[in-house]
Amino acid sequence: MKKILGLVAGILFSVHGLLIAQQQELAIIPAPKSVNMLSGTFQIDAATPIIAATESARKSAALFNEFLAAEHGISLKTSLIALPAKSIVLEEAGDFSSEEGYTLRVEPDKITITGKKAGLFYGLQSLLQLIQHTNGMLQVPGVVIEDAPAFGYRGIMLDVSRHFFTGDQIKKVLNLMAYFKFNRMHWHLTDDQGWRLEIKKYPKLTQVGAWRDSTIIGQYYDFKPFIYDGKPHGGFYTQEEAREIVRYAADRQITVIPEIELPGHTSAVLAAYPELGSFEVKDGSLPTGTIAANNEKGEPYDNDLGDAVPGYWGVHYNIYGPTEKVYGFLQEVLTEVMDIFPSEYIHIGGDEVPKDHWITSEIAQKVIKKEKLADEHELQSFFIRRIEQFLNKNGRKLIGWDEILEGGLAPNATVMSWRGEKGGIAAAKMGHDVIMTPNSHLYFDHYQAADKTTEPLAIGGFLPLEKVYSYSPIPDTLTSEERKYILGVQANLWTEYIPTNNKMEYFLFPRALALAEVAWMAREDKDYQAFTKHRLPARLRELEKMDVFFRIPEAKVNISKDEASGRHMVSIDPLVAQAKVYFTVDGHKADQTATLYSGPFATPIPGPNQQPLTLRYIIVTPEGRSSNQFEAEIKLP
Ligand code: ACM
Repeated sequence: MKKILGLVAGILFSVHGLLIAQQQELAIIPAPKSVNMLSGTFQIDAATPIIAATESARKSAALFNEFLAAEHGISLKTSLIALPAKSIVLEEAGDFSSEEGYTLRVEPDKITITGKKAGLFYGLQSLLQLIQHTNGMLQVPGVVIEDAPAFGYRGIMLDVSRHFFTGDQIKKVLNLMAYFKFNRMHWHLTDDQGWRLEIKKYPKLTQVGAWRDSTIIGQYYDFKPFIYDGKPHGGFYTQEEAREIVRYAADRQITVIPEIELPGHTSAVLAAYPELGSFEVKDGSLPTGTIAANNEKGEPYDNDLGDAVPGYWGVHYNIYGPTEKVYGFLQEVLTEVMDIFPSEYIHIGGDEVPKDHWITSEIAQKVIKKEKLADEHELQSFFIRRIEQFLNKNGRKLIGWDEILEGGLAPNATVMSWRGEKGGIAAAKMGHDVIMTPNSHLYFDHYQAADKTTEPLAIGGFLPLEKVYSYSPIPDTLTSEERKYILGVQANLWTEYIPTNNKMEYFLFPRALALAEVAWMAREDKDYQAFTKHRLPARLRELEKMDVFFRIPEAKVNISKDEASGRHMVSIDPLVAQAKVYFTVDGHKADQTATLYSGPFATPIPGPNQQPLTLRYIIVTPEGRSSNQFEAEIKLP
């Protein structure tokens, strides 16, 4: 009897175990809040209709179809009314508790997605990620998913100033962002090295400001004086192209937030309109007093004269003058910007503003005196308040980098905390909204390996996948009341060292997938082991089919003791499904001539006085792309 009970318990246990295993094997990123597996599967074929009664549901169905066509070669018909066939039903429910939440129910004869507009879109993204292409059939496992995001702001910032990227590349990234349920694209459109948006009233911003004649090669510190590549670089988006990006993003539930930097990062503007700086222009040139600072650093480009768009990185001295002329200019620029971008937020930068020019500028010093300001920091705050009043009057909200706290925060400003979390914490304590984007965890221009020589040139830092995943946007030091001001998170992709589409994708992926879970999932539900066990490998395999040039991450290497044999076993599990691994344990190079990994192997054992062994391996994806060579010390547990 005991034996039978044991057997029954064993079967129950293994059924339960199987269910848990199945849940874990759903490869949706970000993982949904609640998953309950059902028996059976739904089979999608060309005869399966999508029932979509509302216009927004039909729009989302059309995008779902685009994906199906691209990835699985079929397209479904959309119907306004229910049909007797097995179908995918989109129920737009006005009373659904969350704007972005949804319920997805997959049964053998029907798939139902319920939610509001954004929720339906996200339900369809989850459905796409559930489709398994097996034996020529598209199958979806039976399941009930209830889902909603932890944070309302889930963003990625793309810098298109340091290097220009075409609208098609921006759309590719937006499409991927939507697939992983991001909802904000912060578009860094202006900086010292290029102005990228057509402004009708100020045509020289793009005629002059969008082009530089040369760019430094290598890392900023590699060559002093700098060596330039001698190649012109530039480009800009016409207003029509920018509107098209805004529409494309909106269809995918993404708001585009434009950034127009002020009062610093303005070399490209001043190259076009030098009279907007802090000094009076006489005979086409500027006084030299403050300009020597740059030259003392050995920077050969004399662009602080405002006569050329610089092709080197770092914080530049050029800043706007605090004049009525400049406020007028900015208001006219922002009026055109607001007409293109319906986003509630307009980002005004505010970061990295050296005050040298204001210290020596008669114009700036006069304003400080007249307005009874304590110093140049208060002058910056005064400047930004002027802009905030203008934005607020036009029904928009100002958002800026955390330096906007210095000299006093504008009354309704939202703070983007980038120099760690300090600025975000201070702003939340003052009752201001905050987006967390700390350079400790969310600067995707940082290196992805500790050994920089194994990676393509980056700005610096070291930000591995697991560190991104470990980030939690709510600082423990905040009270529950203050926590409400943390609206969400964003990764920043600065592009000083990212001039190509492949490199952009390499730095974004797979780290953006880790961020997707940080932004969508409750802190307590996140689990890096579960993320990398099945979800990430499945999605990276798919990203390869989608032609995304992601970085192939290090495999999971594990050494454990096999109790039966007493031997220590090494396992190497790549994070791309169906990838091959080639390895050596003798410390020599691993390439495709090395041993093909076929499962856990017993480690060779060095003698008592010998060095530990080094495992070297490469990962080769199903499409044949090879990773860097990785290594791990074989240390017995
Ligand atoms: C920044 O990284 N300067 C916001």
